[in-house]
Amino acid sequence: MVHVPYPQAVRWSADGRAVEIIDQRALPGREDILALKNAEEVAIAIRTLAVRGAPAIGIAAALGVALEASNSTSLDKPAFDRRLLDAISTLRLTRPTAVNLSWALNRMRNVETANAHSTPPEIACKLYGEASAILAEDRAMCRAIGEHGVALLPENPRILTHCNAGALATGGMGTALAPIYIAHERGLKVKVFAGETRPLLQGSRLTVWELQRAGVDVTLVADVVAATLMQQKKVDLVLVGADRIAANGDVANKIGTYGLAVLAKHHGIPFYVAAPTSTIDNHAATGADIIIEERDADEVRRGFGTLTAPADANVYAPAFDVTPAALITAIITDGGVIGPGDTRDRSGDHR
Ligand code: MRU
Repeated sequence: MVHVPYPQAVRWSADGRAVEIIDQRALPGREDILALKNAEEVAIAIRTLAVRGAPAIGIAAALGVALEASNSTSLDKPAFDRRLLDAISTLRLTRPTAVNLSWALNRMRNVETANAHSTPPEIACKLYGEASAILAEDRAMCRAIGEHGVALLPENPRILTHCNAGALATGGMGTALAPIYIAHERGLKVKVFAGETRPLLQGSRLTVWELQRAGVDVTLVADVVAATLMQQKKVDLVLVGADRIAANGDVANKIGTYGLAVLAKHHGIPFYVAAPTSTIDNHAATGADIIIEERDADEVRRGFGTLTAPADANVYAPAFDVTPAALITAIITDGGVIGPGDTRDRSGDHR
């Protein structure tokens, strides 16, 4: 087996009867693998962020549908169809912002309807193939993003990233972290600053963990340090992922991304977004059309169990924000580097 320096966030179990994920709630303290046995368990894992990151939740959902189908082949056809529809709608409702989730589920649904006259075992087999293709394609898209992105990096780049858009968020080596992994593979000297990403700390818990594991030079900073880093000329560029990109190039990504883009503009630093074409949603004309998930108040008041605010404090907890296209230098996709105004008609198939 080829050794990959980065973790595999989502995969089939060896016997193909479960979806295995790294439980990201336990990182970096423990590296637990969860074996999810049906679509409902996958939905819970997505909702509770055991698996998270836009491409990874799409992949997990697709594998969950395929699993549900193969668990249900003994049902008669109408009951099998109902079971699949229920699984798809349960998974679709888990998280609203990342378009990759509905994109992957639409692909699964399209395979089911195209094979409507086949038997449940035949449909289950096709769905297994489609889910496996979604995973394999994502792995290839990550590498392509990395290859296109690495060409943009200056010599000895010092990169600020936010949240986790790495291997843990995808089926491969990540989106924003892919150019970093490829630069590192090629022996280039890369320095990464990872913002901790309040309130759920995907930056400190996940990005620092996976970059350190791969031997990449990474320094953790509290989110509030970003302005100072730029003022002190310690970063050359900002590189982040995306959960949904509107037709006009506005980008929804982890809360705090917009602030970094404003800071980068002020300091004259390039601000890059890396995402597969499946993240572009031409049905959203602008960022205003993107639904922003709001999370539970206790994730801010008592994240990870410690009370850090009065227990009844009013909280506003959007999980994502929208960075206007005008603040984005370029979007690095698997198809190449494009201007934020060039996203129209490049989207994945979101029928
Ligand atoms: O709430 P999360 O952890 O799922 O948010 C993840 C992000 O915002 C990532 O930056 C985005 O999904 C891109 S992942 C390649």
